[in-house]
Amino acid sequence: MPKWVYVKDIAAAVGQQVTLKGWLYDHTDKGKLQFLLVRDGTGVIQCVASQKDLSPEAFAAAQAAAQESSLIVTGTVRADSRAPGGFELSLSNVEIVQLAKDYPITPKDHGIEFLMQHRHLWIRSARQNAILRIRAEIIKAARDWLDSNGFVNIDTPILTPSSCEDTTTLFETTYFDDKAYLAQSGQLYNEATIGSFGKVYCFGPTFRAEKSKTRRHLTEFWMVEPEMAYIDLDGCMEVEEQFVSYIVQTVLKNRVAELRTLERDVSRLDRVIAPFPRITYDDAVDLLNQKGLPFKWGDDFGAPHETVIGESFDRPVFVHHYPSAFKAFYMEETPGRPETCLSVDLLASEGYGEIIGGGQRTASLELLEKRIQQHKLPRSDYEWYLDLRRYGSVPHSGFGLGIERTVAWICGISHIRETIAFPRMLEKIYP
Ligand code: 4AD
Ligand code: MG
Repeated sequence: MPKWVYVKDIAAAVGQQVTLKGWLYDHTDKGKLQFLLVRDGTGVIQCVASQKDLSPEAFAAAQAAAQESSLIVTGTVRADSRAPGGFELSLSNVEIVQLAKDYPITPKDHGIEFLMQHRHLWIRSARQNAILRIRAEIIKAARDWLDSNGFVNIDTPILTPSSCEDTTTLFETTYFDDKAYLAQSGQLYNEATIGSFGKVYCFGPTFRAEKSKTRRHLTEFWMVEPEMAYIDLDGCMEVEEQFVSYIVQTVLKNRVAELRTLERDVSRLDRVIAPFPRITYDDAVDLLNQKGLPFKWGDDFGAPHETVIGESFDRPVFVHHYPSAFKAFYMEETPGRPETCLSVDLLASEGYGEIIGGGQRTASLELLEKRIQQHKLPRSDYEWYLDLRRYGSVPHSGFGLGIERTVAWICGISHIRETIAFPRMLEKIYP
Protein backbone atom coordinates (compact mmCIF):
# COMPACT_ATOMS: atom_id res chain seq x y z
CA MET A 1 0.00 0.00 0.00
CA PRO A 2 1.44 3.46 -0.89
CA LYS A 3 2.47 5.79 1.94
CA TRP A 4 -0.30 6.88 4.33
CA VAL A 5 -0.53 10.67 4.44
CA TYR A 6 -2.86 13.15 6.11
CA VAL A 7 -4.86 15.67 4.08
CA LYS A 8 -3.02 18.55 5.76
CA ASP A 9 0.26 17.33 4.21
CA ILE A 10 -1.14 16.68 0.75
CA ALA A 11 0.55 19.68 -0.93
CA ALA A 12 3.94 18.00 -0.47
CA ALA A 13 2.73 14.87 -2.29
CA VAL A 14 1.62 16.27 -5.66
CA GLY A 15 2.22 13.69 -8.39
CA GLN A 16 2.69 10.85 -5.89
CA GLN A 17 0.57 7.81 -5.10
CA VAL A 18 -0.70 8.04 -1.53
CA THR A 19 -3.15 6.39 0.83
CA LEU A 20 -5.68 8.32 2.94
CA LYS A 21 -7.66 6.90 5.84
CA GLY A 22 -10.83 8.64 6.89
CA TRP A 23 -14.58 9.00 6.56
CA LEU A 24 -16.86 9.89 3.71
CA TYR A 25 -18.11 13.45 4.06
CA ASP A 26 -20.15 13.66 0.87
CA HIS A 27 -20.77 11.61 -2.26
CA THR A 28 -21.83 12.65 -5.76
CA ASP A 29 -22.75 9.86 -8.19
CA LYS A 30 -22.11 10.72 -11.88
CA GLY A 31 -22.31 7.19 -13.27
CA LYS A 32 -18.84 6.23 -14.44
CA LEU A 33 -17.40 8.96 -12.22
CA GLN A 34 -17.87 8.90 -8.46
CA PHE A 35 -16.89 12.02 -6.50
CA LEU A 36 -16.03 11.20 -2.90
CA LEU A 37 -15.34 13.98 -0.42
CA VAL A 38 -13.10 12.36 2.19
CA ARG A 39 -12.15 13.86 5.56
CA ASP A 40 -9.50 12.49 7.87
CA GLY A 41 -9.53 14.83 10.86
CA THR A 42 -6.92 17.17 9.38
CA GLY A 43 -8.84 18.30 6.32
CA VAL A 44 -11.16 17.39 3.48
CA ILE A 45 -10.18 16.37 -0.05
CA GLN A 46 -12.12 15.56 -3.20
CA CYS A 47 -11.37 12.08 -4.53
CA VAL A 48 -12.44 11.02 -8.01
CA ALA A 49 -13.10 7.37 -8.84
CA SER A 50 -13.23 6.73 -12.58
CA GLN A 51 -14.60 3.32 -13.56
CA LYS A 52 -11.77 2.72 -16.05
CA ASP A 53 -9.05 3.17 -13.38
CA LEU A 54 -10.45 0.86 -10.66
CA SER A 55 -11.06 -2.85 -10.29
CA PRO A 56 -14.77 -3.76 -10.44
CA GLU A 57 -14.77 -4.43 -6.66
CA ALA A 58 -13.10 -1.11 -5.85
CA PHE A 59 -15.46 0.82 -8.13
CA ALA A 60 -18.44 -0.93 -6.52
CA ALA A 61 -17.10 0.15 -3.12
CA ALA A 62 -16.89 3.75 -4.33
CA GLN A 63 -20.48 3.55 -5.57
CA ALA A 64 -21.73 2.04 -2.33
CA ALA A 65 -19.90 4.41 0.05
CA ALA A 66 -22.51 6.30 2.04
CA GLN A 67 -22.12 9.38 4.23
CA GLU A 68 -19.81 8.79 7.23
CA SER A 69 -18.66 5.33 6.11
CA SER A 70 -15.07 4.77 7.15
CA LEU A 71 -12.80 4.09 4.20
CA ILE A 72 -9.23 3.82 2.94
CA VAL A 73 -8.49 5.27 -0.48
CA THR A 74 -5.40 5.21 -2.67
CA GLY A 75 -4.69 7.52 -5.57
CA THR A 76 -2.48 10.12 -7.21
CA VAL A 77 -2.43 13.66 -5.85
CA ARG A 78 -3.13 16.42 -8.39
CA ALA A 79 -3.17 20.16 -7.92
CA ASP A 80 -6.57 21.42 -9.08
CA SER A 81 -7.67 24.97 -8.43
CA ARG A 82 -11.35 24.00 -8.90
CA ALA A 83 -11.28 21.40 -6.12
CA PRO A 84 -12.06 22.47 -2.54
CA GLY A 85 -8.68 22.99 -0.86
CA GLY A 86 -6.86 23.12 -4.23
CA PHE A 87 -5.99 19.40 -4.51
CA GLU A 88 -7.69 16.29 -5.78
CA LEU A 89 -6.98 12.57 -5.57
CA SER A 90 -7.39 10.47 -8.73
CA LEU A 91 -8.29 7.13 -7.19
CA SER A 92 -6.89 3.72 -8.01
CA ASN A 93 -8.45 1.90 -5.06
CA VAL A 94 -11.29 2.28 -2.53
CA GLU A 95 -11.70 0.01 0.45
CA ILE A 96 -14.63 0.42 2.81
CA VAL A 97 -13.73 -0.24 6.46
CA GLN A 98 -17.31 0.00 7.70
CA LEU A 99 -20.32 0.88 5.64
CA ALA A 100 -22.48 3.41 7.49
CA LYS A 101 -26.19 3.24 6.76
CA ASP A 102 -28.61 6.14 7.19
CA TYR A 103 -26.32 8.56 9.00
CA PRO A 104 -28.77 10.58 11.06
CA ILE A 105 -27.29 14.04 10.39
CA THR A 106 -27.94 14.96 6.76
CA PRO A 107 -27.27 18.23 4.92
CA LYS A 108 -30.86 19.35 5.64
CA ASP A 109 -31.55 21.61 8.61
CA HIS A 110 -31.90 19.79 11.92
CA GLY A 111 -33.25 21.43 15.07
CA ILE A 112 -30.88 22.14 17.92
CA GLU A 113 -32.51 19.52 20.18
CA PHE A 114 -31.81 16.83 17.61
CA LEU A 115 -28.22 17.96 17.13
CA MET A 116 -27.58 18.05 20.88
CA GLN A 117 -28.94 14.49 21.24
CA HIS A 118 -26.50 13.49 18.49
CA ARG A 119 -23.59 15.54 19.78
CA HIS A 120 -21.30 12.49 19.53
CA LEU A 121 -21.82 12.59 15.74
CA TRP A 122 -22.42 16.33 15.30
CA ILE A 123 -18.81 17.03 16.36
CA ARG A 124 -17.73 15.58 12.97
CA SER A 125 -19.17 18.54 11.05
CA ALA A 126 -16.81 21.12 9.55
CA ARG A 127 -18.18 23.83 11.82
CA GLN A 128 -17.89 21.88 15.07
CA ASN A 129 -14.44 20.67 14.03
CA ALA A 130 -13.34 24.29 13.48
CA ILE A 131 -14.69 25.42 16.87
CA LEU A 132 -12.98 22.59 18.77
CA ARG A 133 -9.70 23.16 16.96
CA ILE A 134 -9.81 26.84 17.89
CA ARG A 135 -10.58 25.82 21.47
CA ALA A 136 -7.43 23.65 21.52
CA GLU A 137 -5.42 26.57 20.12
CA ILE A 138 -6.78 28.91 22.83
CA ILE A 139 -5.81 26.42 25.55
CA LYS A 140 -2.33 25.97 24.11
CA ALA A 141 -1.81 29.72 23.79
CA ALA A 142 -2.95 30.27 27.39
CA ARG A 143 -0.53 27.66 28.70
CA ASP A 144 2.33 28.85 26.47
CA TRP A 145 1.96 32.43 27.66
CA LEU A 146 1.85 31.51 31.34
CA ASP A 147 4.66 28.94 31.08
CA SER A 148 6.94 31.47 29.39
CA ASN A 149 6.09 34.31 31.77
CA GLY A 150 7.22 32.74 35.02
CA PHE A 151 4.00 31.02 36.15
CA VAL A 152 4.23 27.50 37.61
CA ASN A 153 1.36 25.14 36.80
CA ILE A 154 -0.09 23.72 40.02
CA ASP A 155 -3.05 21.34 39.88
CA THR A 156 -5.68 22.02 42.53
CA PRO A 157 -8.24 19.53 43.89
CA ILE A 158 -11.62 18.82 42.36
CA LEU A 159 -13.08 17.31 45.52
CA THR A 160 -13.18 20.03 48.16
CA PRO A 161 -14.62 20.44 51.65
CA SER A 162 -15.68 24.09 51.19
CA SER A 163 -16.85 26.65 48.64
CA CYS A 164 -14.93 29.42 46.86
CA GLU A 165 -17.79 31.19 45.09
CA ASP A 166 -21.54 31.43 45.59
CA THR A 167 -22.63 28.61 47.94
CA THR A 168 -25.95 28.26 46.08
CA THR A 169 -24.19 26.78 43.03
CA LEU A 170 -22.34 23.96 44.81
CA PHE A 171 -22.53 20.41 43.53
CA GLU A 172 -22.58 18.25 46.62
CA THR A 173 -21.38 14.68 46.86
CA THR A 174 -20.52 12.27 49.63
CA TYR A 175 -16.95 11.72 50.71
CA PHE A 176 -16.93 8.53 52.78
CA ASP A 177 -18.79 9.65 55.94
CA ASP A 178 -18.45 13.33 55.05
CA LYS A 179 -19.81 15.79 52.55
CA ALA A 180 -17.72 17.18 49.71
CA TYR A 181 -18.25 19.59 46.85
CA LEU A 182 -16.99 19.67 43.28
CA ALA A 183 -14.57 22.58 42.91
CA GLN A 184 -16.03 25.89 41.74
CA SER A 185 -12.51 27.29 41.36
CA GLY A 186 -8.92 26.39 42.30
CA GLN A 187 -8.21 29.89 43.53
CA LEU A 188 -8.08 29.40 47.30
CA TYR A 189 -5.55 26.59 46.97
CA ASN A 190 -3.34 28.63 44.69
CA GLU A 191 -3.41 31.48 47.21
CA ALA A 192 -1.47 28.93 49.28
CA THR A 193 0.94 27.81 46.54
CA ILE A 194 2.02 31.40 45.73
CA GLY A 195 3.65 31.24 49.19
CA SER A 196 5.99 28.66 47.66
CA PHE A 197 6.29 29.84 44.02
CA GLY A 198 5.24 33.51 43.74
CA LYS A 199 3.36 33.11 40.45
CA VAL A 200 1.24 30.04 39.70
CA TYR A 201 -1.77 28.91 37.70
CA CYS A 202 -4.22 26.05 37.73
CA PHE A 203 -6.18 24.85 34.74
CA GLY A 204 -8.98 22.40 35.03
CA PRO A 205 -12.67 21.66 35.01
CA THR A 206 -14.81 23.61 37.47
CA PHE A 207 -18.39 22.93 38.47
CA ARG A 208 -21.39 25.09 39.26
CA ALA A 209 -24.95 23.97 39.73
CA GLU A 210 -26.28 26.89 37.68
CA LYS A 211 -30.03 26.65 37.92
CA SER A 212 -30.93 28.96 35.06
CA LYS A 213 -30.83 28.27 31.35
CA THR A 214 -28.71 30.89 29.59
CA ARG A 215 -26.44 31.11 26.55
CA ARG A 216 -23.45 31.77 28.79
CA HIS A 217 -23.64 29.16 31.55
CA LEU A 218 -22.49 25.56 31.73
CA THR A 219 -22.53 23.43 34.86
CA GLU A 220 -19.08 22.05 34.02
CA PHE A 221 -16.62 24.45 32.43
CA TRP A 222 -12.86 24.86 32.15
CA MET A 223 -11.07 27.71 33.80
CA VAL A 224 -7.45 28.88 33.78
CA GLU A 225 -6.61 30.73 36.99
CA PRO A 226 -3.33 32.62 37.48
CA GLU A 227 -2.48 33.83 40.99
CA MET A 228 0.34 36.28 41.81
CA ALA A 229 2.10 37.40 45.01
CA TYR A 230 2.94 41.11 45.40
CA ILE A 231 0.63 42.12 42.53
CA ASP A 232 -2.12 44.68 43.11
CA LEU A 233 -5.32 45.36 41.17
CA ASP A 234 -3.57 47.47 38.49
CA GLY A 235 -0.83 44.88 38.08
CA CYS A 236 -3.50 42.20 37.72
CA MET A 237 -5.19 44.10 34.87
CA GLU A 238 -1.84 44.50 33.10
CA VAL A 239 -1.29 40.73 33.18
CA GLU A 240 -4.85 40.04 32.00
CA GLU A 241 -4.59 42.31 28.97
CA GLN A 242 -1.24 40.87 27.88
CA PHE A 243 -2.57 37.35 28.35
CA VAL A 244 -5.82 37.88 26.42
CA SER A 245 -4.09 39.81 23.60
CA TYR A 246 -1.62 36.97 23.17
CA ILE A 247 -4.37 34.34 23.02
CA VAL A 248 -6.42 36.26 20.43
CA GLN A 249 -3.43 37.16 18.23
CA THR A 250 -2.18 33.55 18.32
CA VAL A 251 -5.54 32.21 17.16
CA LEU A 252 -5.66 34.83 14.38
CA LYS A 253 -2.22 33.73 13.23
CA ASN A 254 -2.61 29.94 13.48
CA ARG A 255 -6.31 29.27 12.81
CA VAL A 256 -7.10 31.30 9.69
CA ALA A 257 -8.86 28.41 7.91
CA GLU A 258 -11.06 27.56 10.92
CA LEU A 259 -12.08 31.21 11.42
CA ARG A 260 -12.99 31.31 7.74
CA THR A 261 -15.11 28.14 8.08
CA LEU A 262 -16.99 29.93 10.87
CA GLU A 263 -17.31 33.06 8.69
CA ARG A 264 -15.88 35.05 11.61
CA ASP A 265 -15.39 38.78 10.94
CA VAL A 266 -11.81 38.98 12.19
CA SER A 267 -11.48 42.74 11.78
CA ARG A 268 -12.91 43.12 15.28
CA LEU A 269 -10.39 40.67 16.72
CA ASP A 270 -7.41 42.33 14.99
CA ARG A 271 -7.90 45.25 17.36
CA VAL A 272 -7.64 43.13 20.51
CA ILE A 273 -4.23 44.41 21.57
CA ALA A 274 -3.23 45.69 25.03
CA PRO A 275 -3.87 48.09 26.69
CA PHE A 276 -7.62 47.65 27.19
CA PRO A 277 -9.90 50.46 28.40
CA ARG A 278 -10.64 50.52 32.15
CA ILE A 279 -13.76 51.92 33.76
CA THR A 280 -15.05 51.77 37.31
CA TYR A 281 -18.34 50.15 38.24
CA ASP A 282 -19.60 53.70 38.97
CA ASP A 283 -18.72 54.77 35.39
CA ALA A 284 -20.42 51.65 34.03
CA VAL A 285 -23.64 52.53 35.91
CA ASP A 286 -23.58 56.04 34.37
CA LEU A 287 -22.89 54.58 30.94
CA LEU A 288 -25.89 52.23 31.15
CA ASN A 289 -28.19 55.04 32.21
CA GLN A 290 -26.90 57.27 29.39
CA LYS A 291 -27.51 54.46 26.90
CA GLY A 292 -31.12 54.20 28.02
CA LEU A 293 -30.83 51.02 30.10
CA PRO A 294 -31.98 52.19 33.56
CA PHE A 295 -29.66 50.75 36.22
CA LYS A 296 -29.38 51.29 39.98
CA TRP A 297 -26.02 51.52 41.79
CA GLY A 298 -25.56 48.37 43.87
CA ASP A 299 -27.19 45.93 41.46
CA ASP A 300 -25.19 43.26 39.66
CA PHE A 301 -25.02 43.34 35.87
CA GLY A 302 -27.05 40.85 33.88
CA ALA A 303 -26.26 39.70 30.35
CA PRO A 304 -28.00 42.68 28.66
CA HIS A 305 -25.98 45.15 30.76
CA GLU A 306 -22.69 43.41 30.04
CA THR A 307 -23.57 43.41 26.35
CA VAL A 308 -24.26 47.15 26.26
CA ILE A 309 -21.07 47.99 28.19
CA GLY A 310 -18.98 45.66 26.03
CA GLU A 311 -20.40 47.05 22.79
CA SER A 312 -19.40 50.59 23.83
CA PHE A 313 -15.69 49.84 23.28
CA ASP A 314 -13.70 48.50 20.35
CA ARG A 315 -11.77 45.99 22.47
CA PRO A 316 -12.39 44.15 25.75
CA VAL A 317 -13.08 46.49 28.69
CA PHE A 318 -12.19 46.17 32.37
CA VAL A 319 -14.88 47.08 34.89
CA HIS A 320 -13.35 47.43 38.36
CA HIS A 321 -14.25 48.41 41.94
CA TYR A 322 -17.60 46.64 42.15
CA PRO A 323 -19.81 46.85 45.24
CA SER A 324 -18.62 44.29 47.80
CA ALA A 325 -22.17 43.12 48.48
CA PHE A 326 -22.46 40.80 45.47
CA LYS A 327 -18.81 39.80 45.14
CA ALA A 328 -17.06 36.83 46.78
CA PHE A 329 -15.88 36.88 50.42
CA TYR A 330 -12.16 37.00 49.56
CA MET A 331 -12.20 40.38 47.74
CA GLU A 332 -9.97 43.10 49.22
CA GLU A 333 -11.77 46.25 50.45
CA THR A 334 -11.12 49.51 48.62
CA PRO A 335 -9.11 51.68 51.04
CA GLY A 336 -11.40 54.49 52.29
CA ARG A 337 -14.46 53.06 50.48
CA PRO A 338 -15.30 49.74 52.11
CA GLU A 339 -18.65 49.38 50.31
CA THR A 340 -16.63 48.60 47.17
CA CYS A 341 -13.83 46.11 46.56
CA LEU A 342 -10.70 45.66 44.46
CA SER A 343 -12.45 43.39 41.99
CA VAL A 344 -12.24 43.45 38.22
CA ASP A 345 -14.16 41.72 35.45
CA LEU A 346 -13.09 41.72 31.82
CA LEU A 347 -16.00 42.06 29.40
CA ALA A 348 -15.33 40.86 25.86
CA SER A 349 -15.87 43.11 22.86
CA GLU A 350 -18.91 42.77 20.56
CA GLY A 351 -21.20 42.14 23.51
CA TYR A 352 -19.98 38.64 24.47
CA GLY A 353 -19.99 39.50 28.17
CA GLU A 354 -17.72 38.58 31.07
CA ILE A 355 -14.83 36.30 30.16
CA ILE A 356 -12.64 36.95 33.24
CA GLY A 357 -13.41 37.53 36.91
CA GLY A 358 -10.74 38.37 39.45
CA GLY A 359 -9.08 41.02 41.58
CA GLN A 360 -6.99 41.66 44.66
CA ARG A 361 -7.49 39.34 47.64
CA THR A 362 -7.94 40.29 51.28
CA ALA A 363 -4.50 40.25 52.91
CA SER A 364 -5.43 40.96 56.55
CA LEU A 365 -6.43 38.22 58.97
CA GLU A 366 -8.96 40.38 60.84
CA LEU A 367 -10.81 41.49 57.72
CA LEU A 368 -10.90 37.98 56.29
CA GLU A 369 -12.30 36.59 59.56
CA LYS A 370 -15.00 39.26 59.44
CA ARG A 371 -15.87 38.43 55.84
CA ILE A 372 -16.13 34.69 56.51
CA GLN A 373 -18.55 35.49 59.30
CA GLN A 374 -20.60 37.94 57.18
CA HIS A 375 -20.91 35.36 54.41
CA LYS A 376 -21.99 32.74 57.00
CA LEU A 377 -19.25 30.34 55.92
CA PRO A 378 -18.22 27.59 58.37
CA ARG A 379 -15.01 28.98 59.82
CA SER A 380 -13.46 25.62 60.63
CA ASP A 381 -13.34 24.76 56.90
CA TYR A 382 -11.25 27.88 56.25
CA GLU A 383 -8.68 27.60 59.08
CA TRP A 384 -5.97 26.60 56.60
CA TYR A 385 -6.88 29.58 54.39
CA LEU A 386 -6.67 31.92 57.39
CA ASP A 387 -3.19 30.54 58.11
CA LEU A 388 -2.06 32.13 54.84
CA ARG A 389 -2.78 35.52 56.50
CA ARG A 390 -0.91 34.48 59.69
CA TYR A 391 2.32 33.34 58.09
CA GLY A 392 3.78 35.77 55.58
CA SER A 393 0.64 37.38 54.17
CA VAL A 394 1.29 39.62 51.15
CA PRO A 395 -0.84 41.73 48.83
CA HIS A 396 -1.81 39.40 46.01
CA SER A 397 -4.16 39.12 43.07
CA GLY A 398 -5.41 36.67 40.51
CA PHE A 399 -8.13 35.94 38.02
CA GLY A 400 -10.01 33.18 36.23
CA LEU A 401 -10.54 33.07 32.46
CA GLY A 402 -13.50 30.93 31.37
CA ILE A 403 -12.40 28.87 28.37
CA GLU A 404 -15.86 28.32 26.89
CA ARG A 405 -16.84 32.01 27.04
CA THR A 406 -13.53 32.87 25.40
CA VAL A 407 -14.11 30.28 22.67
CA ALA A 408 -17.62 31.67 22.04
CA TRP A 409 -16.25 35.19 21.68
CA ILE A 410 -13.28 34.36 19.46
CA CYS A 411 -15.36 32.04 17.25
CA GLY A 412 -18.24 34.53 17.15
CA ILE A 413 -20.88 32.00 18.21
CA SER A 414 -23.93 32.97 20.19
CA HIS A 415 -24.39 29.93 22.46
CA ILE A 416 -21.87 28.35 24.82
CA ARG A 417 -23.15 24.79 24.12
CA GLU A 418 -21.01 24.53 20.96
CA THR A 419 -17.73 25.54 22.66
CA ILE A 420 -17.00 22.21 24.37
CA ALA A 421 -17.22 18.69 22.95
CA PHE A 422 -19.82 17.43 25.43
CA PRO A 423 -21.54 20.33 27.19
CA ARG A 424 -23.06 19.90 30.63
CA MET A 425 -26.02 22.17 31.20
CA LEU A 426 -29.10 22.44 33.34
CA GLU A 427 -30.79 19.00 33.28
CA LYS A 428 -28.62 17.90 30.36
CA ILE A 429 -26.04 15.15 30.79
CA TYR A 430 -26.54 13.00 27.65
CA PRO A 431 -24.49 12.01 25.65
O1 4AD B 1 -16.09 35.26 37.98
P1 4AD B 1 -15.85 33.86 38.45
O2 4AD B 1 -16.92 33.20 39.22
O3 4AD B 1 -14.49 33.93 39.27
C1 4AD B 1 -13.92 32.90 39.95
O4 4AD B 1 -14.28 31.75 39.95
C2 4AD B 1 -12.64 33.27 40.61
N1 4AD B 1 -12.39 32.33 41.70
C3 4AD B 1 -11.53 33.26 39.59
C4 4AD B 1 -10.21 33.70 40.18
O5 4AD B 1 -10.11 34.85 40.55
N2 4AD B 1 -9.25 32.82 40.24
O6 4AD B 1 -15.51 32.94 37.20
C5 4AD B 1 -14.44 33.26 36.35
C6 4AD B 1 -14.82 33.06 34.90
C7 4AD B 1 -15.97 33.95 34.42
O7 4AD B 1 -15.51 35.22 34.04
C8 4AD B 1 -16.50 33.16 33.24
O8 4AD B 1 -15.68 33.37 32.10
C9 4AD B 1 -16.30 31.74 33.69
O9 4AD B 1 -15.30 31.75 34.67
N3 4AD B 1 -17.55 31.18 34.23
C10 4AD B 1 -18.36 30.36 33.56
N4 4AD B 1 -18.30 29.87 32.31
C11 4AD B 1 -19.27 29.03 31.91
N5 4AD B 1 -20.30 28.66 32.70
C12 4AD B 1 -20.40 29.11 33.96
N6 4AD B 1 -21.41 28.71 34.73
C13 4AD B 1 -19.40 30.01 34.44
N7 4AD B 1 -19.19 30.65 35.62
C14 4AD B 1 -18.06 31.36 35.48
MG1 MG C 1 -17.66 36.57 37.74
